[in-house]
Order: sequence, then structure tokens, then C-alpha cells
Amino acid sequence: MDLFEYQARDLFEKHGVPVLAAAIATTADEAEAAATKIGGKVVVKAQVKVGGRGKAGGVKLAENPADAREKAGAILGMDIKGHVVGTVMIAAAAPIESEYYLAILLDRSNRTFLVMASVSGGMDIEEVAHTAPEKLAKIPVSAVDGISALKAAEIVAAANFPADVADQVANVLVKLWEVFQSEDATLVEVNPLVKTKDGKVIALDGKVTLDDNAEFRQPDHEALIDQGAENPLEAAAKEKGLNYVKLEGEVGIIGNGAGLVMSTLDVVAYAGEKHGGVRPANFLDIGGGASAQVMADGLSIILGDKDVKSVFVNVFGGITACDAVATGIVQALELLGPKATKPIVVRLDGNNVIEGRAILNKAAHPLVQQLDTMDGAADRAAELAAK
Ligand SMILES: Nc1ncnc2c1ncn2[C@@H]1O[C@H](COP(=O)(O)OP(=O)(O)OP(=O)(O)O)[C@@H](O)[C@H]1O
Ligand SMILES: [Mg+2]
Repeated sequence: MDLFEYQARDLFEKHGVPVLAAAIATTADEAEAAATKIGGKVVVKAQVKVGGRGKAGGVKLAENPADAREKAGAILGMDIKGHVVGTVMIAAAAPIESEYYLAILLDRSNRTFLVMASVSGGMDIEEVAHTAPEKLAKIPVSAVDGISALKAAEIVAAANFPADVADQVANVLVKLWEVFQSEDATLVEVNPLVKTKDGKVIALDGKVTLDDNAEFRQPDHEALIDQGAENPLEAAAKEKGLNYVKLEGEVGIIGNGAGLVMSTLDVVAYAGEKHGGVRPANFLDIGGGASAQVMADGLSIILGDKDVKSVFVNVFGGITACDAVATGIVQALELLGPKATKPIVVRLDGNNVIEGRAILNKAAHPLVQQLDTMDGAADRAAELAAK
């Protein structure tokens, strides 16, 4: 999950990274009130999860509260690269002398963490990285050692930070590592980190990406989710504890086991080419012990997707045998009653397959058709979706 700048700022503050006073506003009135409270000059900053806000006109200096009101009025509602601004952050304005760049990220290709640091920070850092890569120091950081004061000093030296800010930048690095590690982030970026005219080092802009896989041990992070942007089907699935990802096609997919579901997506996409290019509508793994309730929850999410024209249930019986899954499907359809409205193609194989198929045949639900092979079932589901 990517955070808004103001959320990143709050995490920085929590872990002792130096930041400026700030508040968020969703109306020009609120912006004026926030500016009054902060006092002096402020900056009005669009809160959108996309880079290049400054260049797009989404970051503006305001001389006083009335000016902040006007600037906020102009920025709210603005479209920045397809993101409409609904919130602005009002922050104290810093007298900037120099702009630096710091980032800690997960370097997947080298299987390590990486610090990137530059004394040429600011809005043109991408350009610097491209045209003068030697100005961007890249230092691997081991997960075991992290960033100690010693490591931080090493990074500061490698990136040629001036002596007068070296200690402060090193301190920021240690604190940023604390944010990165204790919040389970995969990216913590500060651009710009500035030196003010009175020699203080402050983080003026922050970008943080949290690792969703660590959700289970970060209960506080739930409050950071942007509810407005969540896909409602994905939100409903999450509430039921289902592994569901919405995709763009028309064939709803249910399978047991992530590997089987992934290959089902491929097979359906391939079969769909013969039927006008229909594609899978979702990923849904109901896991090993698929009970009737889990099957009903899964089916009801998928049938609630208005893009879905047919459903393909692809199950390989293992520890949970096919007869249990078949019973689950029959009970799920009973639970759903008239809410089940789209054709469902079922392919069962594996443990107790004969018994499973017999259960579905006996139930003879009008929406359900059985096919014996994965390819055959994918083709039928795609054909039904194309109708
Ligand atoms: N609190 C502040 N006081 C003074 N100047 C600021 C402040 N915040 C930002 N600026 C100036 O505005 C520039 C752009 O701000 P910021 O880095 O927040 O946006 P951005 O980099 O354009 O956005 P993004 O990081 O999303 O690409 C900064 O490089 C800095 O010069
Ligand atoms: Mg920035």
C-alpha cells in the first residue's frame, strides 16, 4: 500500500524524523484555518498518490492564511495525472538552502535492502539519476545489520554530504531505517530532505510504501487504507478472509490453491481468444479446506461482479476431497438461492472425483454444468461468457 504524503509525514514524526508542522484540509475554509494555526508562510500541497505534483502545479507557496485559502481552492479538484485532488496538506514553509535525496528500498534483484542518497535532490532527481548517475550513491544494507550510526556515517560519506550537515543526515538515516523496519515498509523516500538557511536538516516530502504481506502484525495500518479508492468487491472479499483480486475480464474464477488458480487464469485467457477475447474476471483462491460457507462467500463475491458473465469452478481434490467440495457447491447454491444467476462450469478432479461428480449430477442445478477436463471447462466457460 502506498501512503499519502501526510501519512508518511506522520510516520516520520512518530519515529523522530524531523518534519514541519502540518495539517490536512479538504476545503478552502479548512486550509485557511490550518494556515492560521501554523502561522507565517505555508505551502499548500496536493495529496495524490503520484509523483511530480510540484511540476504539475500541485505544490504552492502561500504568504498568509487568505492566500492559503486561495491556493487550496485552486489545487482542490485539480486533476494530476488522472488523480483528482480531494485533500491538501498545509505545511509550514521552510527557508531552503539545499535539497537532498534519501531513500531506503527493497532491492529485489539483489535480494537486499538498498539506500540511495544524493546531495542533488529535489524535483529533478529522476533527471540526475539518468544523466549523472555518479551523483546518486547506492549502498546495500543488510536486513540483519540495518542502519547503525556507523553505517549511516558510511552512507553520508559515500554520498558526499557536506560536513556541516553530516551528523544530522546520519541521524535522519538511522530514524528512517526505524520507520522502514518497524513499519514493514518496502520503500521510504525523502525528496527533498533540506538544509534550511539556519542549518537544520528537515524532511519536506515523504513517500512510503508498506508491505501488505505484513498486515497481520501491523494492526495500526488498517486506518491508513484509502477507503474511497478500494475496489468494493476486493474490500468485501477481504472482510470474508478470501484471497481475491479483481481483474478486467468476464469469466469469474474459483479454484483451490494459488498455483491452480494462476494456471486457470492462463487457460481461460487462452480459451477466450477463440471466443471474442473474453478474459478472466478475477483471481480467487478458496484454499485447502474449502467449506460450503467459503464456497458460498466466493460465489457471492463473483456473482456480485457485474462484469462476470460465467463462472468457472476448478477444483483439484486433495486433503479436501471432491465430494466435500461438491457438497459445498450444492450448499452454496442453496444459500445463495435466487442470487445465483450466471452459468457455472465445474471441473472436479483428484481425490474422490467419482463421488464428487455424482453429487453434482444428483443435485442437477440448472446453472451448473460439469466438464471433465480443465481445457474443456475453460473453453465452455469462455463460450458462455461470450454469449
Ligand atoms: N514545506 C515546504 N517549504 C518550502 N518549500 C517546500 C516545502 N515543501 C515542498 N517545497 C518545495 O516544493 C518542491 C516540491 O515539493 P514536493 O517534493 O513535496 O513535491 P514533488 O516532489 O513535486 O512531489 P512528488 O514527490 O510527489 O513528485 C520541493 O522540492 C521544495 O522545493
Ligand atoms: Mg518530492
